[in-house]
Order: sequence, then structure tokens, then C-alpha cells
Amino acid sequence: MDMTKINEAVASFEKLLIAQQERAERIKQDKDFVDYESLDKLIIGVCGGDGIGPVITHEAERVLRFLLADDVAAGKIVFNEIDGLTIENRAAVGKAIPDDVLAELKKCHVILKGPTTTPRAGDPWPNIESANVAMRKELDLFANLRPVRVPEQGIDWTFFRENTEGGYAVGSQGLHVTDDLAVDFVVATSEGCERIARLAYEYARKNKKERVSIITKANVIKTTDGKFLKTAQKIGEEYPEIITDDWYIDITTAKLIDEKRRRDFKVFVLPNLYGDIITDEAAEFQGGVGTAGSANIGKKYAMFEAIHGSAPRMVLEGRDKFADPCSMLRAAVMLLSHIGKQAEADLLEQALDICMYTEKKMSITGRDTGCTCTEFGDYVMETVKKLAK
Ligand code: IPM
Ligand code: MG
Repeated sequence: MDMTKINEAVASFEKLLIAQQERAERIKQDKDFVDYESLDKLIIGVCGGDGIGPVITHEAERVLRFLLADDVAAGKIVFNEIDGLTIENRAAVGKAIPDDVLAELKKCHVILKGPTTTPRAGDPWPNIESANVAMRKELDLFANLRPVRVPEQGIDWTFFRENTEGGYAVGSQGLHVTDDLAVDFVVATSEGCERIARLAYEYARKNKKERVSIITKANVIKTTDGKFLKTAQKIGEEYPEIITDDWYIDITTAKLIDEKRRRDFKVFVLPNLYGDIITDEAAEFQGGVGTAGSANIGKKYAMFEAIHGSAPRMVLEGRDKFADPCSMLRAAVMLLSHIGKQAEADLLEQALDICMYTEKKMSITGRDTGCTCTEFGDYVMETVKKLAK
């Protein structure tokens, strides 16, 4: 056995552990959530991303600017356009987020972010970390909120995906110990599990949701998922009016398809990777990932995005102009609600429901059989303006 390689891996592992321990300490010191109402000026950063990102982000920004026009005119809200979060720039500097872009992001309070391309092995790009994942970690956006609703089927789900730990915490720092042995790491901290569980239960209480389901694979991934489950259950005890149940991720994916059972689920709280996977499945019931937005919430910053990626295949096939902006528009609804603009959030949500489900004057298919992204954006704008009158 080559002990040199093992010792090298142990040394790398030691560094990872120290960094994670430091992160856990930082979480403990984190103060309260920002109070947006108390700010003199709220800065909304807008990053188009790449692939279909700029086209769909543009539609969401357009509506936001319309709905927030009075505050912008009064200087209470400022939009800050942030360029440079493109795969070309990220590849050129070999970083998930270029330093100047990160500095700009940190000047904002909330961010509207289009999808960004995540390099895969075999791509022409260096295999750098995903910009989403890096941003969630850099800005400590620990909660990923993903609502999915299909009213006519009684589906009303809100997923609270832990967003900075699990398999993602050091997902780009796994070790090739030898040519034949590769190891990745899954991380859970008590602080990390507590804060996501607390947010899920608080949300359930505030929104009168009767059930919180804790989803893990704690029968197999005993240590980290075990910690997640136990911690969330303990937090649940502080909310006696809410039913807590727990499920393993495999059977949960099956039960989402079970028409008789799936309506019972309301709020889910789950580790990062399971949350990633199951929210794509869940979004499919609502019309696909193109219809689903996502809020990434931290104590200091918040970022709003689509749940999907940059769809390089659509761009390659020349179909980017037919991309569905609804995911980013739903993200805009969450942004508005998060900064305390609930009336505007409700208005946009109502307009989207009209355009997507009830009136449905035109539909997006992702190809030339449907309308373009801009046409749909115009339709949403018109509907918003009608409702605002
Ligand atoms: C998501 C996406 C990202 C993730 C990718 C693009 C890195 O799938 O936001 O769900 O895995 O979190
Ligand atoms: Mg995903």
C-alpha cells in the first residue's frame, strides 16, 4: 500500500475539517436576519448569467422595475446591473465567481440571478465549481426555498432545502487518493441543521401549514443524515401544533407520484442533494423546471433564481429565444415578498397564474411551436398592468 498517497490525502482532509469547523463557528456568530424595512436604500443586484439566463432574467427584471418604479424614483430602491458572471469570464480567471463580480454582489442586499453554466468533465471549460453553489456558500445562503403548487390537484408543497452543507459543502474538493480510490465528503453541522429546520417550522407556523416532513436517508447515511433528522425533530418539538413526520428520500420520490398520498405533504425540510433532486421532480407536476423559482436565503443576503440550469442545449439548437421566463418571474415573486413588498408579490403571482393556468392566451413550449420568451414576458406585463389599475 502506498502510504505516501494516503498521508497526503489525510493532510488534505485535515485542511477541509479545519475549514468546516471554522464555518460552523461563523454560523454560531451570525446575528439576526437583515430588516429590509429599516434600510434607507435597498440595492437589488441583477446578474443575467449565461445560456438562456440573460433572456429570461430580462423579463423578470422588467416586471420588477415596473412594480417597484415608485421606490426607484424616490431613491429607496436601486437596481445594480452586474455583468461578468459568464462562463467565459469565470473560465478565464479560473474561479467560480470572479473577484470583481463577488465584490459587486456583496454590495447588494438581494440578487436576481439568471442561470449560470456549470462545467462538466469533458466540457471545453476548466472544471471549476458551479457559480450557484459558490454564491450560496460565499453569501451563506443557507436556505433554499422552492414552492410547487398545482391547485387543481391539491398540491401545495414548500421545500426547505439546506443549501450550504451535505454533499455540496466540499463538493468540488473531494480527493483522488490514488488512481483507483476517490472519496467525496458529506458535511453536517448542528448549527447548519438547526437553522434550516427552524426556518421550515417558522414558515409552517406562520403560514398555517399543518405538517413538516423531514426527508433523509438516515438508515444508511447514518452520521450526517442522522444528525439532520435528530436535529430537525428536536426543533419540531418546539412546534407542538405542527405534525412532524419523517421519510426516506427514496420512498418520498415514489410518494410524490401517489395521487392519494401526495396531497398530505406540505412543508419538506431536507439536506442539500436530496433537495436538489426532489425539487426537479416536484416542479415537473407544475409544468416543468422552467416554471419553478427558488429563493436562496441567508441572514445577510438573499438571492433569487430559477431552479434549473442555463440550458446550453437550447442555445446550441438556437431555441434560446423560446426559453420559459416563468421560473425567473416566480423568483421575482419571492424576491418581492422577501423585501416586504407583499402586495406587489401577490399581484405578480396572480398575473402569472392567469397567464400560465387560467387565461393562457399563449403558451411556451421551448420551441417554435409556442410563443417566444419576450412575447410571454409582454403578456405577463400586460396582465400585471391590468391588475395594477
Ligand atoms: C439547482 C441546480 C444547481 C444545484 C446546479 C446548477 C449546480 O441544479 O439549483 O438545483 O445542484 O444546486
Ligand atoms: Mg437542481
